[in-house]
Amino acid sequence: MDSIKIIGGSPLKGKIEIGGAKNAALPLMAAALLTDEQFSLSNVPTLSDITTMANLLVSLGVEFIVDGSVRNGGYNGSGTGRSLILKADNITDTTAHYDIVRKMRASVIVLGPLLARFGKARVSLPGGCAIGTRPIDLHIMAMEKMGAKIKLRDGYIEAGVKGRLKGAEITFPIISVGATENALLAATLAEGKTVIKNAALEPEVSDLAMCLKEMGADIKGIGTKKLVINGVEKLNGVNHKVLPDRIEAGTFAIAAAITGGELELLGANAETMEATIEALRKTGAKIEETEKGIKVVAGEKIRPINIDTSPYPGYATDMQAQLSALLCLAEGTSTIKENIFENRFMHVPELTRMGAKIKLSGNKMKINGIEKLHGATVMATDLRASVSLVLAALAAEGETIINRVYHIDRGYERIEEKLAACGAKIVRLRDKN
Ligand code: EPZ
Repeated sequence: MDSIKIIGGSPLKGKIEIGGAKNAALPLMAAALLTDEQFSLSNVPTLSDITTMANLLVSLGVEFIVDGSVRNGGYNGSGTGRSLILKADNITDTTAHYDIVRKMRASVIVLGPLLARFGKARVSLPGGCAIGTRPIDLHIMAMEKMGAKIKLRDGYIEAGVKGRLKGAEITFPIISVGATENALLAATLAEGKTVIKNAALEPEVSDLAMCLKEMGADIKGIGTKKLVINGVEKLNGVNHKVLPDRIEAGTFAIAAAITGGELELLGANAETMEATIEALRKTGAKIEETEKGIKVVAGEKIRPINIDTSPYPGYATDMQAQLSALLCLAEGTSTIKENIFENRFMHVPELTRMGAKIKLSGNKMKINGIEKLHGATVMATDLRASVSLVLAALAAEGETIINRVYHIDRGYERIEEKLAACGAKIVRLRDKN
């Protein structure tokens, strides 16, 4: 397993190209199952999660045309292009096997499209993950509302429907990005009208909805908590560009702030990052929109703030760990409340090893700012916790080694290259065996 070595203390200066959003690309790839025509995505990030989703689709019989060459044997993520071309005109299997789903719980997003187009699906239960149990009861509720019969057997969801799914009224008791997306995907080919209430507002959900509309789906209320979908008989192919990754952009914005540097984040869309921008401005960072994205300049000092994570447009849970790294160096005490996941503080013991003064009680974190963090050997655990260790290491005095960086590779493309190009002293230590 690779590690990353960082010598802290260099203010970052330069420009970083922001890639397409992982959390949009994954459900968008599942949308390819809804049509037998050519489905093209551009601005797709080259990440291990994308490779996992690609291999899942190939295992179902989706034809993969990457950079013009057809690869049915699987997609190893080496495509130089940022574009994927998929074709689901010869689906041979409707089972998403455990060995793939366990690697990436977002695989459950194939449930809706498989049921909608083929009337059946067998999807492994994802199991928990580092940040929480992350049940999928709301996904199942939505499918049952649309007429699917669902059984849980041998660790699999076994779903089927006679004929087509039926439009239904689905009210989510809590906001769920994935369940909203599964219901939206399924409703596009269901018979009749589906109304999804308390829908997630994340920009990735809207990007998926826009793509489905481009495919011929009849969707109203995009960007609101109430989505109204009238099912159609068939969807066409599409050529859709994935929206920029607001979490990658937010992460690099914090990299500028924590190192006392300045970065221009090319391709970042400030409109989808308002809560992050507002929070960083409160800590003293200067952020302005440029015609190519956003520019972030570190403040003289880091001011303490209090933040609650919440569904979009609130402060993103996916930006919580990164902010906590910055606030370790604030001049005063900050608090962060994590309201979305029950165990998203895995970075805290590792930051503590670097000298951070953080107290946890329940879902609340209290951070007493200190002058300096110092380098240490730390362990990556989940995607965003891992990248918060990179941020802390960039500012820390001395050398940090971060182990198990495969977590980071799930959501950040070539992170060490992008940071090194802006002055970071960072190298990847390749695992020999
Ligand atoms: C998506 O996960 C993202 N992943 C997550 O990003 C992100 O943290 C999360 O949304 C919240 O914004 C992708 O888009 C691939 P949820 P998802 O359903 O859809 C509970 C990252 O770092 N819940 O909105 O799984 C759940 O336990 C990842 O890129 C149920 O109770 O999140 C959580 O407490 C991590 N039952 C809350 O809802 C369900 O059936 C929100 O989860 C589904 C969810």
